[in-house]
Amino acid sequence: MKLKGKTALVTGAASGLGRAIALAFAREGARVGVNDLNEEAAGATVSEIARHGGQAQAFVADVSSSEAVRRMFAAFLDTFDGIDILVNNAGIKAGYRYNQGRTTADLTDDEWRRMMGVHLDGTFYCTREALHAMLKQRSGRIINIGSISGMQGFIGLDGTADYCAAKGGIIAFTKAVAVEVARHGVLVNCIAPGYILLPTMTVAPEFRSHITASIPLGRFGEAADVAQTAVFLACDDSAYFVGQVLSPNGGYVT
Ligand SMILES: NC(=O)c1ccc[n+]([C@@H]2O[C@H](COP(=O)([O-])OP(=O)(O)OC[C@H]3O[C@@H](n4cnc5c(N)ncnc54)[C@H](O)[C@@H]3O)[C@@H](O)[C@H]2O)c1
Repeated sequence: MKLKGKTALVTGAASGLGRAIALAFAREGARVGVNDLNEEAAGATVSEIARHGGQAQAFVADVSSSEAVRRMFAAFLDTFDGIDILVNNAGIKAGYRYNQGRTTADLTDDEWRRMMGVHLDGTFYCTREALHAMLKQRSGRIINIGSISGMQGFIGLDGTADYCAAKGGIIAFTKAVAVEVARHGVLVNCIAPGYILLPTMTVAPEFRSHITASIPLGRFGEAADVAQTAVFLACDDSAYFVGQVLSPNGGYVT
């Protein structure tokens, strides 16, 4: 087990990639805090972990609220008595705007602020709270979830510039914080997934075949491709990784 005895908080872990990361961490022996806005679904992730013999607890909080994040960390530290790993995964989507024929010219102020709030504010608020504990204990891992869209935009998915900007910001934030805290024993890195297909997603057949044809490996990624990257960045195997962006993307971006 690569994470035996470690404590981890995964944001947005009620579904999708966050859920897969939480389950993978628990399988590797970590005790896991399952954050999400969705209480019922977060509870389902906790039950799934418990069913496999792992330990987890739900922490319902909106990561875009600094006060809610402060309260969540107080509760987490009270329960788990320390934090070894933080995964900033909570996120909201923008791709649906493409189907609505909307472009960046149509984005509203509220959409822009919400996108920055969940992704960038959320990543900052959780990182700040985690650093208070990790700098004191002189160890810790922070893994931020970016996206290939933060490196090159979404070619062919108009109306998603706010999402791409937030993800690009997360990549820059990762690098800046990483070089600041590495010497204090805290390693910060980023995962920038490519097109990952989740069982809960509905993808238009023509979009699916167009993207599949553009990916050198000829398939979308799976949640496990991201979860295993997170396990790597959380465990001792990645002890010399600082401010790196690992991108499971099947060769779509090289
Ligand atoms: N699925 C992909 O192809 C893909 C690719 C690249 C990056 N990502 C990123 O991976 C992360 C997870 O995406 P996913 O596809 O699993 O999406 P998802 O919608 O399945 O999961 C996101 C989770 O975050 C939660 N959440 C949203 N806002 C929140 C908030 N303010 N506070 C707490 N929780 C909140 C949601 O309730 C949901 O459970 C996101 O950051 C996303 O941008 C996904």
